[in-house]
Amino acid sequence: MHMRWRVRSGVLILFLLCSLFLGWFPGFISAATVTLDSIEIFKTHELLSSEPTVYFHCKGENKTVLPDVKKKHALYAFKGEESWQPLTKLPDMKCKRCGFYEEDRIKSDDVFDEWEFCASDFTTPDGKYIHFKDKELNATFFCPECVPLGSDHTSGPNNGGGGMHWALVVVISALVSTVFVLGAVTAYKYWQRRKREQEQARFLRLFEDVDDMEDELGIGPLSNVI
Ligand SMILES: *[C@@H]1O[C@H](CO)[C@@H](O)[C@H](O)[C@H]1NC(C)=O
Ligand SMILES: *[C@@H]1O[C@H](CO)[C@@H](O)[C@H](O)[C@H]1NC(C)=O
Repeated sequence: MHMRWRVRSGVLILFLLCSLFLGWFPGFISAATVTLDSIEIFKTHELLSSEPTVYFHCKGENKTVLPDVKKKHALYAFKGEESWQPLTKLPDMKCKRCGFYEEDRIKSDDVFDEWEFCASDFTTPDGKYIHFKDKELNATFFCPECVPLGSDHTSGPNNGGGGMHWALVVVISALVSTVFVLGAVTAYKYWQRRKREQEQARFLRLFEDVDDMEDELGIGPLSNVI
C-alpha cells in the first residue's frame, strides 16, 4: 500500500546514500594527487654551475625535474597542468619520504629538504600546504583531495588513524541516515493515525451534537424533520 511504498523508498534512499559514501571513500584510501603550486629556492648548492637542476623525489618513485626553477629568490608559480605535474600521489594512511634535491655532477645530490610528506599535512580548506625550510626553500603544494582527510584530524597534523576516522564518519552517517529514515517513517505513521483518530472523533462529535440538538428541541431524529 501507500505506507509500504514509503518504507521501501526510504530503504532505497538509505542504500543509495551508503553506496555513495562507499564509492567516494576508496578515492581517499587509494591516493590523492598532489601538484606543486609554487616554489622559491633561497640558495643553490652547486658552486661551479650557475644553473641548478632542481628536482622533487619521493622514495621508490621517479624523480620530477622542475625545468624552470633556476634562480634563487625568485617565486615560481605553477598552474598544476605542467608537463611534469602532478608531483606525486599521497595515500591516506601512509606518509611518503619526499624531498627537493639539486643534481650534483661530482658528489651525491644536494638536499634542499627531505621530510615525511602526508595527506594529513593539508589542513587548510584551500587545499594548500606550505613547506618552508629556512635558507633553503619555500614550496606550496596543492591537493584538494587531501583536505577532508587532513582537516578532520583531531590528533594534529601528524598522521594518526585517518582511515579509522573516516570509517567512523561513514558508519555514523549511515546510522544517522537510518535513524532519520526510521524517524520519518514513524512520524508519518503516527501522523496518519492521529489524523484518522481526529477524523473519527470529529464524526462522533458531530453525531453527539445532532443528538443533543434533537434532545433540546424535544423532537425525534432530525432527519425526520428534514
Ligand atoms: C618511472 O620511469 C620509468 C622510465 O622512464 C617508467 O617506465 C616508469 O613507469 C616510471 N614509474 C612511475 C611510477 O612513473
Ligand atoms: C612561502 O610562499 C607562500 C606562497 O608564495 C607565501 O604565502 C608565504 O608567505 C611564504 N612563506 C615564507 C616564510 O616565505
